[in-house]
Amino acid sequence: MPLTTARPVKAFDPLLRLAHWWIALSIVLLIATSQLAEVFEHRPREAVLWEWHIVSGYALTAGLAVRVLWGLVGPATARWSDLWHPLAWTGLLRLHWPAARRGHDAAASLAFLFFYALVAVMLVTGFGLSATEFGTGPLAGVLDGAARFEWLFDEPHEAGFALILLFIAVHLGALVFHHRRGERVAQAMVTGNQFVAKDTGAGHE
Ligand code: HEM
Repeated sequence: MPLTTARPVKAFDPLLRLAHWWIALSIVLLIATSQLAEVFEHRPREAVLWEWHIVSGYALTAGLAVRVLWGLVGPATARWSDLWHPLAWTGLLRLHWPAARRGHDAAASLAFLFFYALVAVMLVTGFGLSATEFGTGPLAGVLDGAARFEWLFDEPHEAGFALILLFIAVHLGALVFHHRRGERVAQAMVTGNQFVAKDTGAGHE
């Protein structure tokens, strides 16, 4: 992706960037609290760490809700249509990499949509676990103390966690790859600017 021109193009609006960093930070907190809770298993701190894990889940829910709504009413480069590139995805099967464009990278968009679906599954299974294990959260009213349903949420939550880690590794790996090729991709979610060779316009391949 040759993003080499000196001329910056405005691409990502402030609310989209805020949602990105809110979601990223919530996920980092979710990972940190769950891993620390495992380390402190059967010790007094364990319960507090799971409480923080659930609070971080609420934060992620808020971030996802804002992102979903902004995808419906926000500017062109924040819309869900800017992440929808089926032609480019079928091209990937023929090893044809899509050209750089203003807005979301066409190939990366597939991973982003997958990621959001995964986050939704993680939230439902996470709140399922908080209700069945701790009797708290939005599903507590229907699942309170129903420990026999824990298995329903446990395995999908574990598998989803592994996929989230995989997404983060691929996402950060792709950003490092572009950085090493001298392409200023990573800064786009900080400044909102992209350096596209030709402004193809949001919403096009
Ligand atoms: C836990 C860590 C992170 C997660 C979960 C995450 C997640 C995401 C998601 C879901 C998107 C799509 C955004 C949208 O809906 O519009 C995205 C895009 C993006 N992220 Fe991240 N991100 C993380 C860390 C980072 C970091 C550290 C950077 C760079 C400093 C970064 C830079 C970007 C950029 C530039 C895009 C737009 C890529 C493009 O379409 O061309 N992200 N990220």
